[in-house]
Amino acid sequence: LHKTKVTVVGSGNWGSVAAKLIASNTLRLSSFHDEVRMWVFEETLPSGEKLTDAINRNNENVKYLPGIKLGKNVVADPDLDNAVNGANMLVFVTPHQFMEGICKRLVGKIKGDVEAISLIKGMEVKMEGPCMISTLISEQLGINCCVLMGANIANEIALEKFSEATVGYRENRAIAEKWVHLFSTPYFIVTPVQDVEGVELCGTLKNVVAIAAGFVDGLEMGNNTKAAIMRIGLREMKAFSKMLFSSVKDSTFFESCGVADLITTCLGGRNRKVAEAFARSGGKRSFDELEAEMLQGQKLQGVSTAKEVYEVLSHRGWLEFFPLFATVHEICIGSLPPSAIVEHSERKPEL
Ligand code: NAD
Ligand code: 13P
Repeated sequence: LHKTKVTVVGSGNWGSVAAKLIASNTLRLSSFHDEVRMWVFEETLPSGEKLTDAINRNNENVKYLPGIKLGKNVVADPDLDNAVNGANMLVFVTPHQFMEGICKRLVGKIKGDVEAISLIKGMEVKMEGPCMISTLISEQLGINCCVLMGANIANEIALEKFSEATVGYRENRAIAEKWVHLFSTPYFIVTPVQDVEGVELCGTLKNVVAIAAGFVDGLEMGNNTKAAIMRIGLREMKAFSKMLFSSVKDSTFFESCGVADLITTCLGGRNRKVAEAFARSGGKRSFDELEAEMLQGQKLQGVSTAKEVYEVLSHRGWLEFFPLFATVHEICIGSLPPSAIVEHSERKPEL
């Protein structure tokens, strides 16, 4: 019997938790090969040891997910080609800015019948317009690509606290079910939704709203203001998604990938945390500096996503319809003070 082999491309905070979740299931499900390979962007730890060696020796990602055992069947591999070789299912989970380079390195090396899924929240903006990360993977590698997004703060799932997620798929329901099977555990409930763009845009755009929520926290404006910013943000998420892809469904915003992810990220995410510190500094300290100081190598997605969204909005003449998205970017680059988030966000002509 041919067993399905799974490789996880990425080994950050969420990447390591995804490998742990998957590895608990490949052990349990007879249709999967037990071993899960995890590609590691190699680095040297302060001790002088390579991160990959430390992960394999401790069965723990000591840098990005300390204190959590990954499962003995997770094998870290710093060689990208070797890590994907022979895999039938590829799970992409790196910060979005690295995916173009990773795809370039993989071109021509992946068979057409391999299935992929992206857990990456973000997008690229090209000359032709915005390109979702699942589309980048799909087009560059010539393979089908689903997405998995949801209210999934990685450190909480690492501790096996109950949460939900959404798999977005294009046409093939059976493939979506296979991904659901691979990820689901009693504490991680996964629902398939036929709206890949809607699911991916929810995961991507909520990071911009979380930056806005962090500004509100830094300005100590209270819960009502923060809830207002989240509501306005959700409205912009829905409008932007539908203006880009008319196929996006309203119901998707009520799934875990929509309102639930927006809430958890605005309450407890990294984007929120660093944006709060930025506002507390009065915009004097840069996001890059704060990210390096506060996140120890983990990466923010919201600041670059705000820039990417801004490029789309200005290119299409939509800026006036999305005051919250536009203002977040203008605050991040220092053209507006953090307090502008409240003053500007509600100034909007009716869509
Ligand atoms: P992370 O923020 O921990 O990022 C650090 C990772 O990037 C490390 O593995 C590091 O080795 C790698 N890296 C650094 N430089 C690199 C380079 N030049 N090329 C390739 N890799 C490089 O990563 P994460 O938390 O796993 O996030 C990955 C994706 O998952 C993001 O899109 C994020 O939005 C999403 N996500 C994260 C969480 C969470 O709670 N952490 C939850 C849901 C979704
Ligand atoms: P942060 O990157 O802001 O921590 O958000 C994590 C997330 O996407 C939770 O679902």
